[in-house]
Amino acid sequence: MIARLLARIVAFAVAARMAMRRRDSDLAGGEAPGAKAEVSGAASEASGAEAGSGPADAEDPRRREVPANPRAETLVAGLLLAAALLAVAFIAVFVVTGLDTQLLGAALGGSLALIAAAAIVAGKSVVVQETAIEERGTLLEPEAPARIVDALSEAGEGVSRRGLITCAACVAGAAVTTAAVAPIASIGPRLTAIHKTPWHRGVRFTDIDGRLYRAEDITVGSLFTALPEGADPELIGSPLIVLRLPEAMLHLPSSRRGWAPHGILAFSKICPHAACAVSLYRYPEFPSGGNDQPALTCPCHYSTFLPAEGGKLLFGPAGRPLPQLPVLIDPNGYLRAAGGFDEDVGPSWLDVRRPSQT
Ligand code: FES
Repeated sequence: MIARLLARIVAFAVAARMAMRRRDSDLAGGEAPGAKAEVSGAASEASGAEAGSGPADAEDPRRREVPANPRAETLVAGLLLAAALLAVAFIAVFVVTGLDTQLLGAALGGSLALIAAAAIVAGKSVVVQETAIEERGTLLEPEAPARIVDALSEAGEGVSRRGLITCAACVAGAAVTTAAVAPIASIGPRLTAIHKTPWHRGVRFTDIDGRLYRAEDITVGSLFTALPEGADPELIGSPLIVLRLPEAMLHLPSSRRGWAPHGILAFSKICPHAACAVSLYRYPEFPSGGNDQPALTCPCHYSTFLPAEGGKLLFGPAGRPLPQLPVLIDPNGYLRAAGGFDEDVGPSWLDVRRPSQT
């Protein structure tokens, strides 16, 4: 099907070129280039005759070799199928990790390289090698395009496993096309992991060395980083900011009553603007006479959030509050999540940003 389509395109191009040459000839009022070629060919023949070496003695350049090389055909099919496998691997890596650009590049690059190798081997050892002399008849015979189509269609002769190679090429083409299109899914949040986090009710807080946090570890005026016990710390939803405020200072939304036992608050450490780590903490030690609320600030573009008000955005381009996680202190004094985040963690796009904060 594809070969036939290509043949028709080539035939059309040849016919168009012939028409242009004829038009040029008509405009010049002279003979068609084909006619000149015939004349010069005749002159050449004449001169050859004069020299005593007629056209019958000239070496006929026409050659047609039909390779019969099953190994090469199998190799081409194998390369194409391997390319398809790598393209599928690209999609798998994209869906599973989504972030490993080195693996993604290796998979897609390897797939394209294998397709190139298959094309080279096919060109050298599978496709018919032919040197032909074009018969010059009347330019633009009505049936000429059809003849060219037929001639090109016959180019597949000699490929004894043509079906296999066609199949392999289709599989490789489909897989590589899918691999090229798969990253479009990144435009939306469907294939990303940002809607899921390892935090759910009962998960304990650990520090970056895996040591469990107790409530008394969290002191007023300091900022702590916590991770979910037993989960992948590399996940975008894993890192937390944990801090303690005097309970009298808290002004959490009414729906979050009980989310900060003994004034201990937890927020996602990932800035909802462009996913930098929120790492600056301002805790005024004495009244400044102005806005002296404790504040968390992202160092990238200075989005500033108020922990006492549930992570409310005070300033900056983040566009939404810092996602808050409800905290629980278990009977042994360990810090645990009392549930999941109130908001999607990570940078804001499309439907991640939500209009309401309770
Ligand atoms: S990434 Fe935090 S303010 Fe831009």
